Amino acid sequence: MATSAALNTLTSAAFIMVVPAAVVGRTADRVSHPAEALKRYRPPSRLSNWQSAHEVFPKTGASGFALPACWAENDDLPLGISGGTPPPEFDHSKSRPLHATRVDRVTRSCFVAVAARTDLAFQQCIDPACRATFSVDEVLTACPSCGNLLDVEYDWDRLRPPTSFEIFERKWMRRSDPLALSGVWRFHELLPYAPRESVVTIGEGQTLLSPSDGVGGYVGMNPGRLLLQYEGLNPSGSFKDNGMSAAFTHARMIGARRAACASTGNTSASLAVYCAVTRLMRGIIFIGSGKISYGKLSQALDYGALTIQIAGDFDDAMARVKEVAGKLGIYLVNSVNPFRLEGQKTIMFRVLESLGWDPPDWIVVPGGNLGNSSAFGKAFAELRKIGLIDRIPRLAVINAAGANTLHELYTNRGLRWEGGRADLAPACHYYDELDRAHKRADTIASAIEINRPVNLNKCLRALEVCDGVVREVSEQEILDAKAQVGAGGLGCEPASAASVAGARQLVAEGVIGRDERVVCILTGHQLKDPTATVAYHTTDQKLFNEVLGSRGVSRASFANRSVSVGNRLDEIVQAIDLYG
Ligand SMILES: Cc1ncc(COP(=O)(O)O)c(C=O)c1O
Ligand SMILES: [Zn+2]
Repeated sequence: MATSAALNTLTSAAFIMVVPAAVVGRTADRVSHPAEALKRYRPPSRLSNWQSAHEVFPKTGASGFALPACWAENDDLPLGISGGTPPPEFDHSKSRPLHATRVDRVTRSCFVAVAARTDLAFQQCIDPACRATFSVDEVLTACPSCGNLLDVEYDWDRLRPPTSFEIFERKWMRRSDPLALSGVWRFHELLPYAPRESVVTIGEGQTLLSPSDGVGGYVGMNPGRLLLQYEGLNPSGSFKDNGMSAAFTHARMIGARRAACASTGNTSASLAVYCAVTRLMRGIIFIGSGKISYGKLSQALDYGALTIQIAGDFDDAMARVKEVAGKLGIYLVNSVNPFRLEGQKTIMFRVLESLGWDPPDWIVVPGGNLGNSSAFGKAFAELRKIGLIDRIPRLAVINAAGANTLHELYTNRGLRWEGGRADLAPACHYYDELDRAHKRADTIASAIEINRPVNLNKCLRALEVCDGVVREVSEQEILDAKAQVGAGGLGCEPASAASVAGARQLVAEGVIGRDERVVCILTGHQLKDPTATVAYHTTDQKLFNEVLGSRGVSRASFANRSVSVGNRLDEIVQAIDLYG
């Protein structure tokens, strides 16, 4: 990972939101002595990088320090992970910044707590050359030592994970238990970082794996071989709720009171709905001005989130939200937050569940910030590690051609994870090239209109785990595929249709066999972006040109045109006879 730190200053700027206890050093095998860890710890240069004492340690009160809420044993969980009391509400107005001298005291006292109680779940740098570890009580979006991304990791040997999938099936009998009902927390044993009492759920993950021969025929598959995983059924209408539930749970564990994200729309809708339903946090969203569809913007506004439109695109909003979250000590829920991805693993668990635990041959997913693809790779690697599966599906990540960083780096420039030893210089060079050419991401699939995917490194790792491929698809291909998905009965937004368009390309290339079993992830609901849908089906050439023609879309081969008639019975009857 020669240039991983440099890359991360470009992609996921190494920034620490909280974190005195970040000094806790632990390797995968042992907990290092506090004094040893302290030596490796580099404190932030400015005090403003610390959160307020209250946000870091909710139980402390305005004076004096106590340890965060400890977990107690809970017999309900066979995991060794405990139940306990969630952090209490606290009066934000009384919080004040930590003074430098006190940080040290808090830090030291935390060593003891961490060593004693969080060794079953912890955060760990993904860089094999670093592997620094941190408590799950800490709020980090990058490794303080090297700047790389972090995973939530588990000591599976000691956790005694499930030895069969039966435990999850049994939970179907307990639908009155919100944690069994949730399509995320039904799999709590596979993301065991939170005590049951801290879990936040609003009923996410009631989603559907639906066979679709209509769409399958379009893709080129034989009957019965294509399935659509419809994440549009989540409470906010996209897959984001899987991750948001997990991030909210973590935020609750550490007592955060405000959460922020940069968003192309769906993360903000999800954050906003979790804030509105749970009242646990105030949501602040950053969006690129004019870069969000009305469906998504309307959700954030309706749910009452503070919505800040900044002059720029998603990449600008992402850079800013990190800066602001650091300055103000606000909990960040973008997918650089490793807890988000724990929730998104469950999309794969549900796919397996729907297939009787028999892995499909392929998972095809759109790629934007690359959180999903990263989470999917982690899900399969963990399932194999704990012995629940012995075969991992192949992964296809599909970029829009107008936002094709991953495709460019992986397919064209040969960038690979290489067990974590990759030289990431090509990524740095590519970002420089983009800057020099003033090239911005540009696609009708606004949800994946991202040129600097924050999870690039993790996605490379997932592609290695899953023997993956990456493709790019044009605007035309996206819209045609979207129309086919709609005609098949599960409408989706443009970004989601990239998965279907990508699968079609891979079948045409012969990479995916017609008889293989393929799952395309439909990440967001059709109603998220009605503008694109209406423009595709319209008879109004001006509207078509404005919305789609301007992007190089030249035809709407699968359009379902509305028929205009006068308000007269005979004309209406004639229209029905003609078209019906
Ligand atoms: C509908 C939809 N599809 C795909 C993506 C991209 O997902 P990821 O960032 O996990 O690659 C997003 C992200 O915003 C999205 O909203
Ligand atoms: Zn590191």
